[in-house]
Amino acid sequence: MQAIFDTWATGSATAPTGCTTPATLTLAERYDAVRARTDALVAALQPEDMQVQSMPDASPAKWHLAHTTWFFETFLLGPNVPGYTVFDTTFGYLFNSYYEAVGPRHPRPTRGLVTRPGIDGVRAYRAHVDAHMRRFIAEGLDAEREALLRLGLAHEEQHQELLVMDVQHLFAQSPLKPAFDPAWPATPAGPAGRYRHVAGGPVRIGATDEPFAFDNESPRHTAWLEPFQLADRLVTNGQWLAFMALGGYRRAELWLSDGWAQCQAEGWEAPQYWQREDDTWFHMTPGGWKPVDPDAAVMHVSYYEADAYARWAGARLPTEAEWEHAVRTRHDLEQVYDTAWQWTASAYTAYPGFRAADDAVGEYNGKFMSGQMVLRGGAAVTPPGHSRPSYRNFYRPGQRWMFAGVRLARDLALAEDDERSEFLRDTLAGLSAPQKTFSPKYFYDGAGSALFEAICETPEYYPTRTETTLLKKIVPALAAAIPDGAVLLELGSGASEKTRLLLDATSSLAAYVPVDISPDALQGAAERLRAAYPALPIVPVVADFTRGIEVPEALADNPVVAFFPGSTIGNFEASEAVALMHSVRRRLGSGARFIVGADQVKSIDTLLAAYDDAEGVTAAFNRNVLVRINRELGADFDVGAFEHRAVWNAAKSRIEMHLESAVAQTVTVSGQRFAFEAGETIHTENSHKFTPASFAALAAQAGWVVEQQWISDEPAFGVFLLKAV
Ligand code: AVI
Repeated sequence: MQAIFDTWATGSATAPTGCTTPATLTLAERYDAVRARTDALVAALQPEDMQVQSMPDASPAKWHLAHTTWFFETFLLGPNVPGYTVFDTTFGYLFNSYYEAVGPRHPRPTRGLVTRPGIDGVRAYRAHVDAHMRRFIAEGLDAEREALLRLGLAHEEQHQELLVMDVQHLFAQSPLKPAFDPAWPATPAGPAGRYRHVAGGPVRIGATDEPFAFDNESPRHTAWLEPFQLADRLVTNGQWLAFMALGGYRRAELWLSDGWAQCQAEGWEAPQYWQREDDTWFHMTPGGWKPVDPDAAVMHVSYYEADAYARWAGARLPTEAEWEHAVRTRHDLEQVYDTAWQWTASAYTAYPGFRAADDAVGEYNGKFMSGQMVLRGGAAVTPPGHSRPSYRNFYRPGQRWMFAGVRLARDLALAEDDERSEFLRDTLAGLSAPQKTFSPKYFYDGAGSALFEAICETPEYYPTRTETTLLKKIVPALAAAIPDGAVLLELGSGASEKTRLLLDATSSLAAYVPVDISPDALQGAAERLRAAYPALPIVPVVADFTRGIEVPEALADNPVVAFFPGSTIGNFEASEAVALMHSVRRRLGSGARFIVGADQVKSIDTLLAAYDDAEGVTAAFNRNVLVRINRELGADFDVGAFEHRAVWNAAKSRIEMHLESAVAQTVTVSGQRFAFEAGETIHTENSHKFTPASFAALAAQAGWVVEQQWISDEPAFGVFLLKAV
């Protein structure tokens, strides 16, 4: 049974378009595959499991088997096959779900009371309709009938998911807590999400040219988005436990009024299916009764709970347009289709220009456009390939038995606030550590970026000059590795000076995308480059590239060559460098190229001088972080009372920069006091120095091989052309 439940490759934000089964299958093969999947889903169930209805929203498995069959009989065989006689004239009443146009039906809440036909009768019904459908498909379908068939297949896939939801709900009522499938894989554990920036502006939303999409995904239209941030992963059970522990289910101010009423009326204190046994939370899963894994995504929460959680977390739910645009443009979002549907803040309504079809099939989606909220993505129980970026799932805001989870969004103003608080948090944490430490990323405010440019001009700081001379020599080889129509994406581009060498040597670039954390440096560089290369699109991206790489939507299909000169890779700890190179590799795909500059081990005197120049520019650069903390975080560092120190750490093959307190002193940051002894240091930067072998080993850990390497004459500096494996 396992193969049936194969889901998306984890982490992929790019859903195959179309239906469940590979596009290479014929329609007849696809029909058989979808029908067989339904039969396989219930193969291990007992007849009693398929009869009972555990709540009005759920249906017996037997009913799902019959209703999906009725759909093909009613909308395809009946109207199109001359002389077709229905299998049983009572089935129209029993197995019509909600189609007013085709007649009355048995009330939904009592489907479980319909014991005849039994499961054997329903199986005979399926076999009968399958035989007729196969003949009907074999005769060839016009476009209208093919569209109806595709609708019927997508409909049956939806019921496959409903069937698992409904059986799980039923089994959760049993004291034995049986498993729908004991071999069902546990929801994978993973880290908490991080926010990713998504640019705003006019964006196109809705179905594109997939072989199949529901009518509610059209018409494709333009929506306006303000820039925002979207979490790259779903909220975890651990995060939800914190919400619960801090009174999330007891604080009315977090909840929408209707949600609070339902929370009170139904006594919610945790997601659906959660129960505490002693100190451990357990929950129902398709694999049975399991302990709640804090690192797996939370699911079975209502819209009301998702919304309350988001408010508690200082965030919000994304709108469906934000979700769709982000999924189409960012390639570093995880758990998009394979874990849990994601509630959006969007009410389920018609897109501009939407018109439901006139016939009975027009009842499929359109008439439900009130009182429901949209969910996007897909879940582990969603048939593989069923969903897509434009797919609009919808449920009432209080429903919880679906596999529904939470992906958070934030407005940018809040995000900026958050950046300040991250700077504050990092600074306070760094000053509280036994070895006081700052992250070098905080060097680069406007003044810091300018000071770094000045360092590059000092006689002692050889890396920039040496790398530039080397690049001039090897640029034809580098240019040859850049395919026509490629995007050149530079990480930490600063003034983009070295990039000109590459831009001069390549004529067929689709665009240059400089990525830098400093908007000032980026803007200045972009203006200068636009003047020098008027025909080349320059698309600057203000971003912390250590948090993922964003290629603007319009360029997403071009090959990308990444360029990371200057030995900035040396400023990361080995594990961080591997993670960064790995994320570049993941974004660029196999066969991609990555050009990296990496400074080499050399005489200690040369190294120390480079990081402690006679003019004191590096010292000013180092101290500038204190100036910045004073200004942005309201601290009172006496900047003159800290000496710049550069030391060689042989064991770790790196130059370390420190700020050494000249005297015993106390510093206050945001109301917190930190004592310094005389001679105590704040460790502000590492600059690792490599050998060709040590760099190749680092790259290999991230899935890159060195295709070519060039090492300059002394002072040695290396440029490496990496190829993704
Ligand atoms: C940006 N980075 C590669 C420089 C380096 O050499 O580590 C930063 C720097 N620190 C002091 N001088 C230059």
